[in-house]
Amino acid sequence: ESTLGAAAAQSGRYFGVAVAANRLSDSTYATIAAREFNSVTAENEMKIDATEPQRGQFSFTAADRVYNWAVQNGKKVRGHTLAWHSQQPGWMQSLNGSALRQAMIDHINGVMSHYKGKITQWDVVNEAFADGSSGARRDSNLQRTGNDWIEVAFRTARAADPSAKLCYNDYNVEDWTWAKTQAVYAMVRDFKQRGVPIDCVGFQSHFNSGSPYNSNFRTTLQNFAALGVDVAVTELDIQGAPASTYAGVVNDCLAVSRCLGVTVWGVRDSDSWRSEQTPLLFNNDGSKKPAYTAVLNALNGG
Ligand code: G3I
Repeated sequence: ESTLGAAAAQSGRYFGVAVAANRLSDSTYATIAAREFNSVTAENEMKIDATEPQRGQFSFTAADRVYNWAVQNGKKVRGHTLAWHSQQPGWMQSLNGSALRQAMIDHINGVMSHYKGKITQWDVVNEAFADGSSGARRDSNLQRTGNDWIEVAFRTARAADPSAKLCYNDYNVEDWTWAKTQAVYAMVRDFKQRGVPIDCVGFQSHFNSGSPYNSNFRTTLQNFAALGVDVAVTELDIQGAPASTYAGVVNDCLAVSRCLGVTVWGVRDSDSWRSEQTPLLFNNDGSKKPAYTAVLNALNGG
């Protein structure tokens, strides 16, 4: 196959991209996104500040621009993200305790009902664990509402849209030896044992010199899958975009039957949240980088 999405589809997987609504009017960008990928994540437009700027007043203008573009171009959509300490609107930042807990529940219900039946996977909870060696939850206003906030979010989400796969999504959980990886693994094992509804784990995979790719990522994906959840690479970008590392990540996903697919976090280097690291598959002029060819070859079976 000659595009990333079609090549991934040969094994029943997708190859997706983060799309920013305000770039869809750039024809180079839109042409590549439409041609190469078969899954879309809104880079910012489905986040809390974008979708509920005032309490109880939902706004889906930008989110629907991304969603509609994706569907019109034959792509499925990952939802990102419902409960997160970051990109909260001001009104939510000022809440705490039971009022914040209720606001989180109302937010999940409001966004998921708008997209009911339309989203393949939702990142229900994003980045809830601390970096470093503690293995602890990240301190946040949501965490301070009580340790059960994550399972409440997942139970709320399951009731709001039973057709969506419900994911926990995080970064620095790719290396099996990291404490954060072990902490998320323990949470997922506990959720599965207690019947808390969780279907998938998203590994953001923002690799750079501080958080390098390690080939034990495959072990991580296998071990999580063995708990009975699907896994996905959700926000891939790699400092310098070395072709061999990109191929390694893709081959790790292909090696794990429960790995649903790979999403890269932007189209061209100039579209990246860290463009100075040139971490993506396309140059600023839209031409394909060596990493693109390596990924396509891996998806085509080597
Ligand atoms: O839209 C406003 C614009 O009106 C304003 O003039 C401008 C001035 O700063 O800011 C614009 O908003 C920015 C937004 O991106 C849209 O471009 C925010 O400042 C900026 O903080 C925001 O950054 C996003 C970041 O999440 C915020 O946390 C990145 O685009 C986005 O790629 C990044 O994505 C995250 C994932 O959601 C979660 N995992 C990590 C990943 C990378 O940080």
